[in-house]
Amino acid sequence: PYLFTLVYVITCYKNPFSVTGAPGQCPDLCHCHSDLLHVICFNVKLKKIPRVSETTQLLNLQRNNLGNIPTGAFSDSKGLISLHMQNCQLREIGSQAFKGLTKLAYLYLSNNEITTIKPGAFEDLTGLTYLYLDGNQITELAKGLFSPMINLFILQLNNNRLRELRPGTFTGAKDLRWLHMANNTLTTLQPGSLDEVENLAILHLDGNRMATYPIAAMSKLRVVEELTLSRNPMKTLPDLAFQSFGRYMERLYLDNMGLEKFSDGAFTGVTAIKSLYLDNNRLRTLPRSLEYGTLTNLTLFNNPWTCSCSLAPLKKWMDTTRIRTDALCASPAQQKGRQVRDSSAFSSCRPKQKKNRGKTKGTRQ
Ligand SMILES: *[C@@H]1O[C@H](CO)[C@@H](O)[C@H](O)[C@H]1NC(C)=O
Ligand SMILES: *[C@@H]1O[C@H](CO)[C@@H](O)[C@H](O)[C@H]1NC(C)=O
Repeated sequence: PYLFTLVYVITCYKNPFSVTGAPGQCPDLCHCHSDLLHVICFNVKLKKIPRVSETTQLLNLQRNNLGNIPTGAFSDSKGLISLHMQNCQLREIGSQAFKGLTKLAYLYLSNNEITTIKPGAFEDLTGLTYLYLDGNQITELAKGLFSPMINLFILQLNNNRLRELRPGTFTGAKDLRWLHMANNTLTTLQPGSLDEVENLAILHLDGNRMATYPIAAMSKLRVVEELTLSRNPMKTLPDLAFQSFGRYMERLYLDNMGLEKFSDGAFTGVTAIKSLYLDNNRLRTLPRSLEYGTLTNLTLFNNPWTCSCSLAPLKKWMDTTRIRTDALCASPAQQKGRQVRDSSAFSSCRPKQKKNRGKTKGTRQ
């Protein structure tokens, strides 16, 4: 009976269908360094996740055909800090797949075929700071999926199939600073969906399908320094679009969107912008709320600019800066094809409206 019990414990407890080898020695086909501190099994036709002991801090399993990560796959490997599973043809992440990995800081799951991440998949990952899930086929993120990750700093979700973002998606991930969701199929970020990640500094949303700017969700953000919205089919941007983080925003990507118009107050509160990319749109003019003083990079090409007095602040900035920005007038007819900076259309424009308003107020008093 003892022997039976022992066999039972070994075969069932250790999940022999997906985990292979004995911990404490270098797994078959792998290379090990510094007394098993680093275990490298790069592209060696592994079919199962090898067992490594608690001494191992780095496990590199890239380019093997592993299929899925079952519950407790790493239960012998509680010392792991860095786990590399890119290009492993992973399709599903089971619940508690990373059970026991409380020290894990880096988890790379890029370029797999992941469609499903079960609720509770990331349980125990309280130390995780970098999570790479880009290049998969993820369509939705379960509510609270990231909630164990109180230290998460970077979440990389580029090149997936996310359709929308709902409230509760980022519950618990309060330290998230970089969120990459470029090249998904997002049509909207629901109001409340970014409430828990108000300290985001970098937000990439380029290459999605948002036809309107998700102002309710965005206005919860406080300190965004870089925002990319390129290649979303938005025709307009509303008043106060960036106001809640305008003092921090340095880089804004709005190219290739088919943008036709900004509301006049679209840039209200934007006071630190250095790089603004507006090329390849359908813009004719720029809003009064745009302040040019801090800009060091501005792209305007491939837009049908109307060279009349509403662009005078742009022309004035061009006259005083050494930065060369290409922008061709498309109208009126006599200016067509001219560079804005060379155009004579602005010679009789009066100074910016704002100053006039100030004067009016002053004389009224
Ligand atoms: C998104 O897709 C575009 C067009 O296919 C590509 O040029 C760009 O590099 C991709 N972005 C990322 C972050 O992968
Ligand atoms: C413009 O931006 C690019 C990249 O974003 C950067 O490499 C370059 O130095 C910037 N140019 C100026 C004049 O700031």
